[in-house]
Amino acid sequence: MTVSLTSHDPARLAVDALVVAVAQQDGAAVVLGADRLPKELRTQLTDAAVLGITGAADEVRRLPGTGLAAKVLVLTGVGAADKVTPEVLRRAAGAATRELAGTAKVGIAFPTDDVASVSAVAEGALFGAYSYTRYRASEAAAQAPVAAIQIVTAHPRDHAAIGAVARAEVVAAAVHGTRDLVNAAPNDLYPAAFAEAAKAAVKDSGAKGLKVTVLDDKALVAGGYGGLVGVGQGSVRGPRLVKVAYSPSRPKAKVALVGKGITFDSGGISIKPAAGMEAMKSDMAGAAAVLHTVVAAARLELPVAVTGWLCLAENMPSGSAQRPSDVLTIRGGKTVEVLNTDAEGRLVMADGLVAAIEEKPDVVIDIATLTGAQLVALGHRVSAVMGTDDVRAEVVAAAETSGELFWPMPLPADLRAGLKSKVADLANIGDRFGGMLTAGIFLQEFVGETPWAHLDVAGPAYNERTAHGYTPVGGTGVGVRTLLALIEGRAPAA
Ligand code: BES
Ligand code: MN
Ligand code: ZN
Repeated sequence: MTVSLTSHDPARLAVDALVVAVAQQDGAAVVLGADRLPKELRTQLTDAAVLGITGAADEVRRLPGTGLAAKVLVLTGVGAADKVTPEVLRRAAGAATRELAGTAKVGIAFPTDDVASVSAVAEGALFGAYSYTRYRASEAAAQAPVAAIQIVTAHPRDHAAIGAVARAEVVAAAVHGTRDLVNAAPNDLYPAAFAEAAKAAVKDSGAKGLKVTVLDDKALVAGGYGGLVGVGQGSVRGPRLVKVAYSPSRPKAKVALVGKGITFDSGGISIKPAAGMEAMKSDMAGAAAVLHTVVAAARLELPVAVTGWLCLAENMPSGSAQRPSDVLTIRGGKTVEVLNTDAEGRLVMADGLVAAIEEKPDVVIDIATLTGAQLVALGHRVSAVMGTDDVRAEVVAAAETSGELFWPMPLPADLRAGLKSKVADLANIGDRFGGMLTAGIFLQEFVGETPWAHLDVAGPAYNERTAHGYTPVGGTGVGVRTLLALIEGRAPAA
């Protein structure tokens, strides 16, 4: 997949399809930049209503490319004309490239004369140009994602614009890499396989300053990682803790990222209902986002040391599985009574947070498909962020910059009482109500004084419904953009 900038006349672009934006204005649909299209095409478009075109977001229509070098004109809706933000452009570009799967060369002529718009269109177009075909024996060719994207802009030689395209390519590779891991079948992607995938991602990136360290089952027992060992012991495929460190030569800051990597969450002995259990192959989306964020930071040569911790285990019921009432000792010595083996994410994350904090980062951010309660609170598309007030605000701001949806949530101290255990330092479940916040309170016990944020992406990580904007069905890659924007924000421009 390639993206290039051009100032050519869009009508003369040698592409298979030319994409333009259509907005809603005064009850009518208006094509943005229509003056650049041939007259005969413009006349056709003046009556968009007759064509059933409204300009609503996620509306993508193909028309014959009358008078164009391209065979097809594609209209992609951006919604209200006075509310066109970079994220609106990102989604409209992505909806178009997603719908155009099977088309090789696509031109995009949006109003993109500032760098922020070029960046958003490049990202959106790339995010939409994704398909997951690993397990398809046939029909793969017809579904091939758009291969070459030309973006029309007045300033194709502008350094900042060229830089924005290069960055978009790195970000998109990270988002696609995350989606690929989430979409992988759990019989292929078990903890040891994930550790190998981490090594491969690092190697394939060609980036400098990256190092992968893997702790296997034995090393985890020896290191006192009771959470990972307890959760992983029911599976024949043992747990792993993978450390992916990016160390630039003169780091201006030190960021730790911790990701939940349950390669399949059956619930364990507290087994989940069969209906919908297949979606639990996505319970490693946090670890996937962490891996690819670290790789992207290295590829962009950001002057920030970033260490990712992937907490990998498969939560299975078996004769060797942990039981409700088992007591685990998390790394560092705190004990946890396991009252529900399906609240496993917090157990592996506790080990990961402790390990991350031992290295004294300036800030630690964890990301996890942690609770069903996240979906109850915020739905399928909005992620939650909890933690230290200022880091939480930093995440919200980074999300805003990147176009992802993260909403701040509290960590009410009174919920700690629900986590009291009759026998151990704490129990792994508490009050049913506010379940997402209780999980956050649990993690807080392992963080101490380090500035911290906890991202619960249970719903947004995996799209079980329909594709929209640049978001496909399946793994979405959520979190990568926000984490990367946060890291960039910690690296003041030289
Ligand atoms: N992986 C699940 C959370 C989840 C649910 C992610 C739905 C994505 C979609 C997690 O391990 C879990 O099972 N959480 C339990 C916790 C409960 C037992 C306290 C939950 O949310 O039901
Ligand atoms: Mn679970
Ligand atoms: Zn889980």
